Amino acid sequence: MDFFNYRDNCLFAEDIPLASIAEEYGTPCYVYSRATLERHWHAFDSAVNNHKHLICYAVKANSNLGVLSVLAKLGSGFDIVSGGELSRVIAAGGDPSKVVFSGVGKTPEEIAFALEHGIKCFNVESIPELERIDKVAKSVGKKAPISLRINPNVDAKTHPYISTGLKANKFGIAHEDALATYKKAQSLSHLEIKGMDCHIGSQLTEISPFVDALNKLLSLIDELAESGIVIEHLDVGGGLGVVYDDEKPPHPNEYAAAMAECMKGREHMTLILEPGRAIAANAGVLITKVEFLKQGEEKNFAIVDAAMNDLLRPALYSAWQKIEPVIVREGKSNIFDVVGPVCETGDFIGKDRELTIAPNDLLAVRSAGAYGFVMASNYNTRCRPAEVMVDGEKTVLVRARETIPQLFDNEYTVD
Ligand code: LLP
Repeated sequence: MDFFNYRDNCLFAEDIPLASIAEEYGTPCYVYSRATLERHWHAFDSAVNNHKHLICYAVKANSNLGVLSVLAKLGSGFDIVSGGELSRVIAAGGDPSKVVFSGVGKTPEEIAFALEHGIKCFNVESIPELERIDKVAKSVGKKAPISLRINPNVDAKTHPYISTGLKANKFGIAHEDALATYKKAQSLSHLEIKGMDCHIGSQLTEISPFVDALNKLLSLIDELAESGIVIEHLDVGGGLGVVYDDEKPPHPNEYAAAMAECMKGREHMTLILEPGRAIAANAGVLITKVEFLKQGEEKNFAIVDAAMNDLLRPALYSAWQKIEPVIVREGKSNIFDVVGPVCETGDFIGKDRELTIAPNDLLAVRSAGAYGFVMASNYNTRCRPAEVMVDGEKTVLVRARETIPQLFDNEYTVD
């Protein structure tokens, strides 16, 4: 459930009409709803309330400081994949001791930075990475808390680009190598074994792959116990899908409760969840303005002021996101490809959409709160959009629109 609803044919974010946000901040513009972010976070948190747990929001989904600060105030933990994301969490008031650090290629500088801030855990993906973390920890005189990301080899049944738990993926340590790798970790003097983690993919719409993965890890944890290796926390990653169109993903409540159920009898072990999309996607929209309507030989085009540089998912994954008028108008509808001004055929926001629109109308691209602005670029020397947080009857500009001079501020001409 989100807080983007029509009132008298005008689309609102909480108590603010999107049209007034477009007027004040211009377009294209990302708009987030604080109440929706909070509701989604609480859905996870309350579902596992009877088990020791930590919700580590996946920062990569939406790393705007406004979003992070809303979640930090709820007491959220964070899943990061770079030193940059850790800096954002700290700047937003997040607690580094609730941060887990994922990713296959952590640099020595990033490891040292994370150790300096006392993060909760490094989610480690290979033996060379274990050795690197040990070496850096030794050089700064600390013990690094680690977890191993185990590849449970389950099929997440999602888009191949965002499926990560299969043998063919670059992620994690093979299930059959787990024991040997934990033993290796145990032998390194500046590491402290804390946990086990996995992440099998993103936009999953069924519970069974999550349960299969979790059960595989639990039996591995029992095997490790026989070798005297104690696991304090189990991190099941993120990946719960959301409704873009007619998908029927489990409710976060149902998902988190199923995870907690598998953990029954293991009350000493903390359950960590790393949701990103399920918290942020439907807490955001992208508002864009129709510049021109153009009739091609075979298709009608609505040329809008947002493009693939602002919202990459349709171009990159052929992802489908709902496009709705900000103010519903009467009249005859038509079928349009909604496209941006970037010089690529792949630059589209939506194809074959039935819309009743005229030039200068505003459209809202739904479910844009996750993997939206964070994947934006300056391709075609286009400024990245403004980002606005709505909180009841208030709006806060949480990122100003970029300006053209900023785009080449770090560049130099040559003689
Ligand atoms: N934890 C780890 C280790 C991850 O790699 C990811 C996402 C998450 C948590 C959060 O997953 P979520 O709950 O958001 O599904 N750009 C793609 C999605 C890439 C996801 C990458 N990893 C998209 O726009 O669909």
